[in-house]
Amino acid sequence: MSAANTVNVGPVPLARPSTPDPAAIADRVEAILRSGVLTNGPTVRELEERVAGRLGVRHCLAVSSCTTGLMLVLRSADLRGEVIVPSFTFSATAHAVAWNGLRPVFADCDPETLTLSPAGVDRVAGPRAAAILATHVFGTPCDVDGLQELASRLGLRLFFDAAHAFGSLSGGRPVGGFGDAEVFSLTPTKPLVAGEGGLITTNDDELAERCRMGRDYGNPGDYDCRFVGLNARMSELHAAVALASLESIDERLERRNALQTRYAERLEPVDGISFPVVRPGDRSTFKDLTVLLPASADRARLIEELDAAGIETRTYYHPPVHRQQAYTGNGWGSPPPLPVTEEVCRRVLTLPLWEEMTEAQVDGVCGRIRVFFDAVQRERGA
Ligand SMILES: Cc1ncc(COP(=O)(O)O)c(C=O)c1O
Repeated sequence: MSAANTVNVGPVPLARPSTPDPAAIADRVEAILRSGVLTNGPTVRELEERVAGRLGVRHCLAVSSCTTGLMLVLRSADLRGEVIVPSFTFSATAHAVAWNGLRPVFADCDPETLTLSPAGVDRVAGPRAAAILATHVFGTPCDVDGLQELASRLGLRLFFDAAHAFGSLSGGRPVGGFGDAEVFSLTPTKPLVAGEGGLITTNDDELAERCRMGRDYGNPGDYDCRFVGLNARMSELHAAVALASLESIDERLERRNALQTRYAERLEPVDGISFPVVRPGDRSTFKDLTVLLPASADRARLIEELDAAGIETRTYYHPPVHRQQAYTGNGWGSPPPLPVTEEVCRRVLTLPLWEEMTEAQVDGVCGRIRVFFDAVQRERGA
C-alpha cells in the first residue's frame, strides 16, 4: 500500500478567505462609524487611488460587486446588439450582458490557457457584434494583445472580467489596464477581499465618468438622471477591509503560486494531468486551482473518493455557461459548436488552494489523487 493511502489528510476545504487582522482595521472602522459617512466616502476614495496607482491606470471606481461593475461598464459603453463572451467562465460574465438587454454570443476557449481564444472570437463575430467581454479565468491572463488586435480590426469594444485577476500580470504588465475597462471582484474567495465588492479600472475618461454616475443611479448629483443606472456603491466598511487586504496582497499571491508549483511537482507523475498554461512573463493569481484530468479519467469516482477523505473539490466550470438553463431555450438559438469548451469542462477538477494551506495538506491531496490513478492503472492492467 502506498504511504499516501495511510495518511489522514483530515478535512481540506476548497478555499478559505484570507481576512485581514481585525486589530489592523479596528481604528479605521471606528472612525468610519463615528464620522457617519458610511458609504462612498473618503475610505472608498483612498482605495480607488491606491489601486489606480498600483495598476498604473487613470481611473479606478469601487462598486458593490464585480457583477454590478460589469453591468455598469456595458451600460456606460452604450452598446447595442451582441457581446462575445467565453462559455468557460462563471455565469456572471454572461449575466451582465443579458441584464443589459444585449445578447451574449459564446465563443470557444484556448485549450492551453482556458481563456477566450481570439480565433474563437473571430469565428463567431457577426455584423451585430458590438463588444468582446473576456475573462482572465482563474487568474490566468487572457491573450490580451491577440484580443486587442482582433477588437481593433473588427471595430469592437473590449472589456475584461478580471474577477479572479487582482495581481495577475500579462507580459509583466498588471491586469487592470487592458482593453476599454476591466472589472475585479472582492468577494471572500478572491485575491483581494472586501467581503463583497468590485473595482472598475479604465483609462477611458468618458467611460469612467459614466460609470461614476451609473453606480449612483445615473445621477450626476443634480437628481436629473442621465441614464438608467444602479445603486452599485461600495460602503466605507468594505473599503476599509479591502485596504487592509491590499497590504498583504503580494505575499499572499506568492504563497498561492508556491502552492501551485508544489501541486504541479507532486502531480507530475500522473500521466495526462495538466494545468492551465501561464505563459512566460505572465503571472496568475490561481484564484482557483483547476486541473485537467486525463481524458479517460472517471472524474465522478475521483470526486467521491476525495470527498470520502474529507477533501473538497469543485468542477469549475461545468456546466459551461452556454449549457446552463438560463441560456438554453431562451429563443437565442443554438450556440455555435464550442469543442474545446466541451472537452475541457468534462475534464476539469478544482482542488483546494488557500494561502494558509500547509505543504503537508498539498502533499496529502496529491497523495490521494496518485493512489486513485495507481489503482486505476492496476485495474486496467488486470
Ligand atoms: C469570472 C467571474 N466573474 C464575475 C463574478 C462575479 O463577482 P461578484 O460576486 O463580485 O459579483 C465572479 C464571481 O465569482 C466570477 O468568478
